[in-house]
Amino acid sequence: MYIKEKEYRGIVKEILRNTTFKQMYNIEHHGISRWEHLLKISYHSYRIAKKLRMDYVSVARGALLHDFYLDGDERCAKRKFLDTFVHPKKALETSNNFFSINEIEKNIIVSHMFPIYPVLPKYKESVLVNIVDKVIGACEMLREYRYKCKYRFNYLFVLLLIVISN
Ligand SMILES: [Fe+2]
Ligand SMILES: [Fe+2]
Repeated sequence: MYIKEKEYRGIVKEILRNTTFKQMYNIEHHGISRWEHLLKISYHSYRIAKKLRMDYVSVARGALLHDFYLDGDERCAKRKFLDTFVHPKKALETSNNFFSINEIEKNIIVSHMFPIYPVLPKYKESVLVNIVDKVIGACEMLREYRYKCKYRFNYLFVLLLIVISN
């Protein structure tokens, strides 16, 4: 995913150039890379925030950092499931370690899983990112699930053909 828009690229370039943030390329998230997920949420939220005259700079940056935590594919299924409930705090800690972030950006990150993670979105910018993440995240998960189902069905079909042909 490459975004041409000059203004947007200017806003997020500090984050995209960060070496630790680049690790997001290699972590799987909803069937795509976490980097792609973050960029998608950030760019779509930025476009809406601009139209609605919100603080679109904080929206672009906060949304880009909302899932910035380093745990990845090495986690077992149980850990991955449990991380659903705690990762906003991890993302806030990682973001604080690498970037200077304002109050709106902090709240965008820590409240993006509300109501699953019990921190309220305090700003309209946080509400926006919370909604965009849920909508896009659900589409990504649906696509991933459909792909897995299709793959399993194909596998069963081949197995059935082998059994019949014998
Ligand atoms: Fe998240
Ligand atoms: Fe997310």
